[in-house]
Amino acid sequence: MSFSGKKILILVTGGIAAYKINTLVRDFVKENAEVQVLMTPDAQKFVSALTLSTLSKKPVFTEFYGDNGTWNSHVEMALWADLILVAPCTANTLAKMVNGLCDNLVMATYLSAKCPVFIAPAMDLDMYQHPSTNINLEKAKQFGHHIIPAEHGELASGLIGQGRMSEPHTILEVIGKYFNSKHSQLSGKKILITAGPTYEAIDPVRFIGNHSSGKMGFSLAKEAAERGALVTLVSGPTTLSIEHPNIKLIRVTSAKEMLTEVMEVFDSVDVAIASAAVADYTPKVVAQEKIKKNEDSFTIELVKNPDILKTMGQQKKHQILVGFALETQNEMANAKGKLEKKNLDMIVLNSLRDEGAGFQKDTNKINLITKDEIVTFDLKPKTEVAKDILDAVEARMENK
Ligand code: CTP
Repeated sequence: MSFSGKKILILVTGGIAAYKINTLVRDFVKENAEVQVLMTPDAQKFVSALTLSTLSKKPVFTEFYGDNGTWNSHVEMALWADLILVAPCTANTLAKMVNGLCDNLVMATYLSAKCPVFIAPAMDLDMYQHPSTNINLEKAKQFGHHIIPAEHGELASGLIGQGRMSEPHTILEVIGKYFNSKHSQLSGKKILITAGPTYEAIDPVRFIGNHSSGKMGFSLAKEAAERGALVTLVSGPTTLSIEHPNIKLIRVTSAKEMLTEVMEVFDSVDVAIASAAVADYTPKVVAQEKIKKNEDSFTIELVKNPDILKTMGQQKKHQILVGFALETQNEMANAKGKLEKKNLDMIVLNSLRDEGAGFQKDTNKINLITKDEIVTFDLKPKTEVAKDILDAVEARMENK
């Protein structure tokens, strides 16, 4: 990870976790970032300005006024930064940030900034759980700030729970990913992803469904969001949840509901990936009341569901459209058939004959098929498969 040329302004506030900032500053500098540290007066009780100034190779400021009548310009420093990191961020500073209070150099600089702001909160268990802290973190998110959540573990008070500031290597990784996402073709682009199974109602208590877990689609959504894309994730019933400022999750039940939500946004997206295992058929009639077991045998008449991906293919204009094919035989031929029939740019083939691929698993083994080539990948965690798929999408965007 290189931070070459990046200007990072670290605002240190008065919490015990401030001792970790020495390591963090050293690591940023080692990766070629330019680091400027500002501290609140209380932060100096936990960590020394001299240490931080030695590690950052720059003077550390705590007050508006320097010696000999000099002035530390909060506006200049705020505009200099490519990114602001508030770490550790105490409950007090967080509350001031979301209410616009300005009683020290750190707050004045924060309020003058236009660049992205990352917050690594650190506080004791009960303070972190307090409703006011939750509301303040929510408000900070609404400002567009990025929260690096506190970790679980032993706290300075001796209590065990969530509240420890994230470790320096985690903070470094989160910020590294953020800068990388700025280079991504997907950054700022809109992407639609379908995920999970669909449930087709038979009566008020029963449905036809399948074993799809939604893991592949959720991994794609997370990876795309981390690359800076604005993601609409339309998912059928799944136990998974996902939280990211760039992801809008729309939960649906049936194929028809999924189609409605998909077509609502399809025209406006740049990329659409259909990873949902949509039920091909749905009961012709849904019983209004629970069906009783009166007969010895029972038949349900099924009718074809809309093909969501095919509908997108028919309406495709500028979008890059990616489908999935889960096959058990004649895999390549079937997948190529779907590529053409559904007017796709790319199809992701997984075969149930491959050990470790398919529903419910955490891994997948895929072939990426386009009109011109077939690329075969090894068995990998779905989080890594998501990267391979999005790399291929980005390569296509670049050549478009
Ligand atoms: N798909 C869809 N809507 C459907 C059925 C499938 O959007 N009603 C999408 C899936 O999300 C997947 C692709 O189409 O991206 C292929 O799904 P698959 O079940 O493999 O193929 P089908 O077209 O349903 O064909 P078959 O079941 O006959 O293999």
